[in-house]
Amino acid sequence: MANVIIKVENLIVDFENVTACKNLSFQVEAGEIFGLVGPNGAGKTTTLRVLATLQKPTSGSVKIKNFDLESHAKQIRKIIGFMPDFSPVYEELRVWEFLELYAGAYGIGKTERKNRIDTELQRVNLTEKKDTFIGELSRGMKQRLILAKTLLPQPEILLLDEPASGLDPVARKELSDILKDLTTKKTTIIISSHILTELSGLCTSIGIMEKGEMIRWGRIEELSDIPSGMICVEIKTLNPVRNLKEVLMLFDGFKNLVQIQDNSFEIILEGNESIIPNLIKFLAEKNIPVSEIKQKREDIQSIFFKTGAKDVS
Ligand SMILES: Nc1ncnc2c1ncn2[C@@H]1O[C@H](COP(=O)(O)OP(=O)(O)OP(=O)(O)O)[C@@H](O)[C@H]1O
Ligand SMILES: [Mg+2]
Repeated sequence: MANVIIKVENLIVDFENVTACKNLSFQVEAGEIFGLVGPNGAGKTTTLRVLATLQKPTSGSVKIKNFDLESHAKQIRKIIGFMPDFSPVYEELRVWEFLELYAGAYGIGKTERKNRIDTELQRVNLTEKKDTFIGELSRGMKQRLILAKTLLPQPEILLLDEPASGLDPVARKELSDILKDLTTKKTTIIISSHILTELSGLCTSIGIMEKGEMIRWGRIEELSDIPSGMICVEIKTLNPVRNLKEVLMLFDGFKNLVQIQDNSFEIILEGNESIIPNLIKFLAEKNIPVSEIKQKREDIQSIFFKTGAKDVS
């Protein structure tokens, strides 16, 4: 891996009656959005709390930016922002008062505070609610406020525990856009969820947890069955086509054909989606009776279900 920023090796966290993390090992590269997925009780929160230096491991090693968690927790705390699954908010404070309070606690100087607060309010789209009492905000707005608070000290690594729970689809999309924008500015993000669809299209890598174990992890394209530099196009035809492979051999970029059913196929092509219009034209010219065509994308859901993991909504 090119630029590993988080390295967890053989992490074990024992509680009195349960082992929440059973020998976890995984790595996260700088700039990734790493989705930690798994059912209730899988150990996601415990893992995030360890990374946030809030939960002491029973054994194992955790390195964040070459700082060892055991000996350099203080340095790690300076580069990490943690948004817990349940964050307290002070309902009787106004939005800006809440941020002002935390900016002070984070040690942000008085002159810089206003700028920083304005920037984060703008980022989470709450500028207009600056003077509103927190108690009057919707749930989605409260989540965005907590995110703004977490971002105030400009953490290099952001740990978000189920940040989208309870958000409507619009608020979820907004959160997704904010997170994608942050990674373009070099923030590394770990985000947990037990709802797969929440993370689809957002994460660049994932770790699948079940009963305290990390059963699979890595970059989405590495976990995918589609080789890198290629795309897979699914087509259906009105009736079975026996010589489709021979026909496609003449198409520039054709790599392979997998027949799924009599009249449904997966075509592997070299290149990216810009080749699809050429394929459509080619198939029409060859009188192949195509009734459906679409690009097959490997997403978190298909990877998740291929691992045999269960129980996630
Ligand atoms: N402070 C604690 N004391 C005792 N057991 C705990 C504690 N925190 C977590 N556990 C146990 O550790 C296991 C993992 O819990 P954890 O909260 O990490 O799971 P999770 O994947 O975040 O689940 P959820 O999706 O419900 O948030 C569970 O069996 C839980 O009961
Ligand atoms: Mg949890």
